[in-house]
Amino acid sequence: MPQIVHVPEHRLWVLTGVESSYVLHLGRDELLRSLHWGPRLDPEQAASLLEFPPPRHRSCEDPYDGTYDLSAAGGLRYGHAGLQVRFADGTRDLELAFVSSRISQYDAGAELTLEFAELHYPLAVEARYRLHRGSDAIERRLVLRHLGAPDARGIAAEPITLVRAESATWVLPRLEDYRLSQVRGQWNAETQLHRTVLPYGETLLASRRGVTSHQANPWAMIDDGTATEESGSVYGCALAWSGSWQLTAERMPADVVTLSAGYGHTPILRRLGPGERLETPVSVGLYTEGGFGAASRAWHDYVRAHVLAHPDELRPVLYNSWEATEFDYTVKRQQALADRAAALGVELFVMDDGWFGARTHDAAGLGDWTPNPDRFPHGLGPLIEHVHGLGMKFGLWVEPEMVNPDSDLYRAHPDWVIHQPHRRRTENRNQLVLNLARADVADWMHGAMERLLAGNAIDFLKWDMNRPFSEAGPIDADGCDYRPGDDRLWFDYIHNLYAVLDRLRADHPHVRIESCASGGGRLDLAIAARTDQVWASDNTDAADRRHIQHGFSQLYPAQLMGAWVTDSPNPFTGRAVPLDYRFHVAMAGLLGLGGDLDRWSEAELSRAAEMVAAYKAVRPLIQLGTQHRLRGPEHELSAVQYTARDGSQTAVLAYLRARRFGRADPELPLRALDPAARYLDAATGRVHHGAVLLSRGLPLELPAGDYASTLIHLRRVE
Ligand code: DGJ
Repeated sequence: MPQIVHVPEHRLWVLTGVESSYVLHLGRDELLRSLHWGPRLDPEQAASLLEFPPPRHRSCEDPYDGTYDLSAAGGLRYGHAGLQVRFADGTRDLELAFVSSRISQYDAGAELTLEFAELHYPLAVEARYRLHRGSDAIERRLVLRHLGAPDARGIAAEPITLVRAESATWVLPRLEDYRLSQVRGQWNAETQLHRTVLPYGETLLASRRGVTSHQANPWAMIDDGTATEESGSVYGCALAWSGSWQLTAERMPADVVTLSAGYGHTPILRRLGPGERLETPVSVGLYTEGGFGAASRAWHDYVRAHVLAHPDELRPVLYNSWEATEFDYTVKRQQALADRAAALGVELFVMDDGWFGARTHDAAGLGDWTPNPDRFPHGLGPLIEHVHGLGMKFGLWVEPEMVNPDSDLYRAHPDWVIHQPHRRRTENRNQLVLNLARADVADWMHGAMERLLAGNAIDFLKWDMNRPFSEAGPIDADGCDYRPGDDRLWFDYIHNLYAVLDRLRADHPHVRIESCASGGGRLDLAIAARTDQVWASDNTDAADRRHIQHGFSQLYPAQLMGAWVTDSPNPFTGRAVPLDYRFHVAMAGLLGLGGDLDRWSEAELSRAAEMVAAYKAVRPLIQLGTQHRLRGPEHELSAVQYTARDGSQTAVLAYLRARRFGRADPELPLRALDPAARYLDAATGRVHHGAVLLSRGLPLELPAGDYASTLIHLRRVE
C-alpha cells in the first residue's frame, strides 16, 4: 500500500510507493520544496535531509530556485513558473501562505492535499498528490479557487487571469549529467524516439494545435546520460491532456533540473471568475530503476491499472477497409471485403470514411452523419447484418469534431466553427473545426453520435480528428459567451469532448472506441482513459513502423497500439516488404489488416490466415503481458519480447532489416525467464534451457533475404 506520512515538526511530507519516495518540505518562507525524488526513504531518513547544508548563497538569485514543487511566480524565482497569474489591479506575483494539509486513504491508494491561500487576493491553491497501490506513479494536479465575494456595495470581485496553471513541476535530484528522452514526429512519422543532452535553459516540448499532436507527445524522461535499456535511473513525467500542452525541461546554470507539465500553451489566458474553481489535468511523475525498459514497463503497468477502462479485455483483430476502397464505396464491395476478412480470422470489420452525407470525396459531407442514400439506400443495417452474420463485430469511422464547408451542417450553422471575426477561415483537408467549446455544438455532436449508436448495431467507433485548430478565438463570436482576454475555448473544447465521450461510453457500455487524428495525432493518457486503442500512424510501411512503434512503446503499452498489415509496395513509401515481416511488425501491437484483400493472391491470403491464428495464440502475452525491447530498430537486428505475467510463456518477434555479407543468423539473448526452467518451442519441438536463452540466446532461423522476420512462441515446461 502506498504511504503518505506527515512529519509536522519538520513540515515534511513523505510519499512512498513500491520502490520510491517523494519528499516535500515547507520552508519557513511558506514555499514548498521537493527534497527528494528517488529510492525509498522512511520519514526519519527523509528528515535527515534537512541537516544537509543549504545551497550556497549567491548574489542576484534565490538559492533554492529550481527546487520548488509549487513553482509560483514571484520573488527572486526566475526559474520556470508553473503558476502565473494577473490580478485585476495589475499585480503579477503570488504570495501564498500555507493553510492546511490533508491525507486521505482509500482502498486503492492515498491522496495528499496541501492547501495555500494568497496573502492579499482571493485565490486558494491546492496541490494534490495521489498514489496508487502497486505503483510508483505520483499523480499531481492543482486546484484553484477564486474566493472573491461581492464587496460591501454588492460589486462583484474582479476575475483573476491565469497565465499558466501547470499540473506539476517535478524536481530532479542532482545527477552527473542530464539527458532528455522525448518523441518527435510529423504526420506519417509519429513517435520517433530522440535522446539528447539537456542543454542549459528551458527546453520546450509543446503542442499549440489544440490537439495532442503528431509533432510531440506530452511526456519526457530524464536520466544521467548513462542509462541503457537494462540499467540506470529514469525520471519521467507525462500529462493527461488531449489539447494544447506545454512541457518544460529546465536546466538551470547551477545544474538543477525541473520538468514542468501543464495544459494550454503560452500565451493562452484563462479567466477565473469569482466563485469559480479550476482543476488542472493530472501530470504523472514516475521514478524507476532498471533502465528505459523498466521505466516503460512501469508506465505500461500504470496505464493498464489506472488509465484504461478495460485493461483485461483482449482487443479483437480488425480489418479496416480504408486503404482498400478510400472513398470508392458500394455495399457489395464492403461485403466482399468483409467476407475475405472473416475467412482470415478477423474479428472486427471497420468501415472507414465515405459512408455518409455527400462524402464521395474529402471536400464534402463532413458533418452530415446519415448514410449516403445512393450508397446505402437501406441504411447501414444490411451491411451490419452481413458483418455480424460472418461472426465479426462491426465498427464505423466518424469524425464528429469537423465539418466541410460543403455540407448541410455548415450551411445551417456557419457560426459553429472555430473562427475569429474579420479573419479568414483557414481550411485544412477542406475542413473546419467545429467549436466544441460551445454547449450547443457539444449537444449537437452528442446527439448525432447517439443517434448513430442507438439506431445501428455498432460495436466500435473509429473516432478521427483530421486537422489542428486555426483562428481559435472567442467561444462565440456573436457575443453570447465571449469575454475578451479569455481563451477558454482551448480548454472547454477538450472538456466537452471528454464529456461527450464519457456520456456515449456510459450509455453504450459495449461500444469500444479507437482514437485517431490523421494517424497518431491524439495519443495521450487522457484520451487513453476514454478510448480503447489508438491508431499509431497512417504510415503502414512495416520498416518505418518499427521506429514509430518503438517510440510509442516508451510510455504506452502494446494493448493500446493499433497496427495494420497493408499492401506491398506500401502506398505511402513505395517500399516492398515481405508479407511475414509486415505481419510480424503489426503483431507487436493490436494486429489489424488494412490492405486491399481482393488483390491478395491465394497464397498470400492463406499465409495471412496462418499469421492471424499465430497472433491469436500469443495475443494475451502481447496485449496483457510485459514487454522487453531486446534490440531497438536502430540495429540491423531488432526484437521485442512479450512475457506472460506468470512467466509461463514468452513470445519473441525478431526482425532483420538486411542480410549483409552472408553472415549467419544472430542469436538473441532473451529476458524475464527462469534460468532453471526449460522452454518448449512447439513449432519445432525444440526445448531450450532458460539459462542458455538468457546468456547465449535464442537461435534465430530467419527466412532468406532482406526484411527477414520471425515469431517464436515458447512455453515453460517442467
Ligand atoms: C485519417 C486516418 O488516420 C485514416 O486511417 C483514415 O481514417 C482517414 N483519416 C479517413 O479520412
